[in-house]
Amino acid sequence: FTADKYPVKRGNYSELNAEDIKYFESFLNSKDLLTDKKDLDAVNVDWMQKYRGQSKLLLKPRSVSEVSKILKHCHDRKLAVVPQGGNTGLVGGSVPVFDEIVISLANLNKIRKFDDVSGTLTVDAGVILQTADEWLRERGYIFPLDLGAKGSCQIGGNVATNAGGLRLLRYGSLHGTVLGIEAVLPNGDIFNGLSTLRKDNTGLDLKQLFIGSEGSIGIITGVSVLCPPKSNSVNVAWLGLDSYEAVQKTFKLAKNALGEILSSFECVDRASMEVVDAALKKHDMEAQQPLESMHPYQILIETSGSNSEHDEQKLNAFLENSMENELVVDGVVAQDEGQIQALWQWREGISESSGKWGGVYKYDVSLPLPVMWDLVKAVENRLIERNLQSKTDSTKPVYATIGYGHIGDGNLHLNVCVREYTKEVEDVLEPFVFEFIAKHNGSVSAEHGVGFQKVHALQYSKDAGALKLIKEVKNMFDPHGIMNPYKFIE
Ligand code: FAD
Ligand code: MLT
Ligand code: ZN
Repeated sequence: FTADKYPVKRGNYSELNAEDIKYFESFLNSKDLLTDKKDLDAVNVDWMQKYRGQSKLLLKPRSVSEVSKILKHCHDRKLAVVPQGGNTGLVGGSVPVFDEIVISLANLNKIRKFDDVSGTLTVDAGVILQTADEWLRERGYIFPLDLGAKGSCQIGGNVATNAGGLRLLRYGSLHGTVLGIEAVLPNGDIFNGLSTLRKDNTGLDLKQLFIGSEGSIGIITGVSVLCPPKSNSVNVAWLGLDSYEAVQKTFKLAKNALGEILSSFECVDRASMEVVDAALKKHDMEAQQPLESMHPYQILIETSGSNSEHDEQKLNAFLENSMENELVVDGVVAQDEGQIQALWQWREGISESSGKWGGVYKYDVSLPLPVMWDLVKAVENRLIERNLQSKTDSTKPVYATIGYGHIGDGNLHLNVCVREYTKEVEDVLEPFVFEFIAKHNGSVSAEHGVGFQKVHALQYSKDAGALKLIKEVKNMFDPHGIMNPYKFIE
């Protein structure tokens, strides 16, 4: 997609001129102000290569005061901007739509402080998630969030999207673990909410507004977060099941049998596993499937605890019980760290594999557990009925319809892998998917956010009153509308 195909017109913003560049040059290091096409190409396009903007300027401030000066100038001049973290977002929120200035947080990347008694970590927003996690692991702690993009995404980006990830079930959402936020407001003012207190009932909790704000009300420059201790004992099991009914019963059993040590409950369907397999083969790679048979549903269960003997006992009792009850029909338990990583790779590899066929329509939904896979089936049936997908004909526009996700959190990822993006496929998917979600009181975005992609779909999850309030809050922070326009809220 490029601007000429977008269903929006460029807003009434100023055009960048030589005076603006001169002003930015007056306080930024020359290598932090980039205007070359090749530097801009990378930040103009998103991770899925689906959305492409035409920014002419990339700024990479090195301090909070530089961020403040940039935003104040843009606010005064009415220049639109896009804050960008690791650019791993999946809803087209991190790249410009037209010529917005890209403000990258990559150079704000220091770990500021850590309290090793309480486990509170304070970082610059541009610290890469994996860097923070590895740093914490050396000190006996972990970051409370983990996701497939950890090697590139930044903590500021994670907070801005309120990312959920693979262990929300155990460690909760960032709305609970983030203790403080420092942010630069559009007019250049600095909001200093970088508390490390767990309890603080002194008025409105303003930092919460920035969690999941997707760059719409300011730029997050610092974050403090409560980190859990690293578990001494981690087990991962990969299980095969024959029905979605069995998946739900196994989830209930796992919660009861594993209690507080259950740290992940992920489910993938057969089509997802086939897509990962085929993507590996496409690159002349081969990896043994976790299980010999391709069961229609497969789950990854992870436990994290402090006593390996107790944890293994619990896990074994759960596995015996689920097999005796004929819920789980096949399974494997990782025997070492290498096997743990290999199993996780099958799950985390789905994102990349799903985009290997030309394009992918991604829906990230919250739905009541009982109807979750009804959506996957209904979508696949519609595509087959309309002759857009076929198991035997490789010329059809849809390569595969797959379902996977954080079932333990009520969050499904429905991906329609296509050979190219076409209006024909899109019309079959939308508004059908959104209407299905609305009918079941679900959410059109469980964790990836709204971005550019879902701004028109919000009405399916929020009523007019709620949308009006969000818009009013946005306008209060950003009266000139310079922050990440065309996205998040109309
Ligand atoms: P970007 O993509 O750069 O930006 C995302 C949004 O946040 C944009 O709107 C941007 O303007 C804004 N933003 C970024 N930094 C700041 C800042 N400092 N201040 C204000 N606004 C800012 N998401 C999940 O929730 N769960 C997952 O399991 C998950 N897995 C993923 C796996 C893969 C392989 C990929 C590619 C993505 C995945 N994502 C997942 C999506 C994505 O939301 C996260 O990767 C991540 O939170 C985005 O961080 P980022 O630094 O890349 O932000
Ligand atoms: C995941 O759970 O793998 C992510 O949210 C990313 C994706 O759906 O592609
Ligand atoms: Zn996810």
